[in-house]
Amino acid sequence: MSKIYFAPMEGITTPAYRKVHKKYYKGIDRYFSPFIVVTSTHNLKKRETREYIPFEENMTPQILTAAGADFAWAAKMLKGLGYDEVNLNLGCPAATVVTKGKGAGLLRNKENLRRFFEDVFSENDLPDISIKTRCGFWSHDEAEELAEVFTDYPFKEIILHPRVREEFYQGKPDPKSFRIIKSKAKCPVIYNGDVFDVSSLRDHLKSDDGVMLGRGLLRNPMLAESKDFDTADERLEGFLDELYEEYIKIMSGERDVLFKLKELWTYLITGFPRRDDDYKRLMKASTGAEYKAAVRQIISTDIC
Ligand SMILES: Cc1cc2nc3c(=O)[nH]c(=O)nc-3n(C[C@H](O)[C@H](O)[C@H](O)COP(=O)(O)O)c2cc1C
Repeated sequence: MSKIYFAPMEGITTPAYRKVHKKYYKGIDRYFSPFIVVTSTHNLKKRETREYIPFEENMTPQILTAAGADFAWAAKMLKGLGYDEVNLNLGCPAATVVTKGKGAGLLRNKENLRRFFEDVFSENDLPDISIKTRCGFWSHDEAEELAEVFTDYPFKEIILHPRVREEFYQGKPDPKSFRIIKSKAKCPVIYNGDVFDVSSLRDHLKSDDGVMLGRGLLRNPMLAESKDFDTADERLEGFLDELYEEYIKIMSGERDVLFKLKELWTYLITGFPRRDDDYKRLMKASTGAEYKAAVRQIISTDIC
């Protein structure tokens, strides 16, 4: 059976978001934490340790780092906490990340990438290792060479977003580079990129080992149930109310909570066309009461 994963999205798919999403919606086989930055000091920020403590079932922590030895250290530390799989971020395109040789920055030099993996797999007692990668740094012509590197290491899975770093999220994912890497891989290859509706999801589930959904799930939290966004679905109101309450419990004030939820609404609003005025009100809300009133207005107007 083809699997469905919830993509890591920094700042959005927080532990609170994952907890509430799991409660309200079905269909996700595995969640991934947003990247946890690991440096040579092995000192992790408190915000990042909250991604994996307390232990979360069916969740794979993701590591962003420039050195194989530091990745191996983090993988073993996470194994000790009960995680049977750890994921390596090879896809983040942000300039601040890439210039430090992390994320997609590791794809730039294939020999360095090999050295990174040699340092990882020279260690014993690792958990399963999966990678989340793009198919090149500059161009899709790199797919073949990258595929050669990947086949030399015992990954549990490759999650592949078939854009290169230079494209960021522009243009369309390239099915040809995806096929090149998949045809050589010795492990399952999970598709990721621009799956926004049920028909596209079904096509990928038929042809691929699995699909990782990102922005599609932010727009439509029931997408993994193979259901189109339904504004009459009563769960959305409960989901949003509970998410608000979770953030109020853990964040330092209403303003921070509203900031976070407004970011989520930049995706959700696409399911509510013709709600411009209410959406403006929501984006301007400076108190929880104003925010909730705007949400009710958007949701209830659409149901009528
Ligand atoms: C706001 C945001 C934050 C993201 N954070 C991460 C991250 O922490 N780790 C990661 O591997 N990818 C991250 N991504 C990339 C997504 O996981 C995913 O690969 C990308 O959005 C393409 O999939 P989609 O078209 O289904 O959204 C992020 C994407 C967005 C939009």
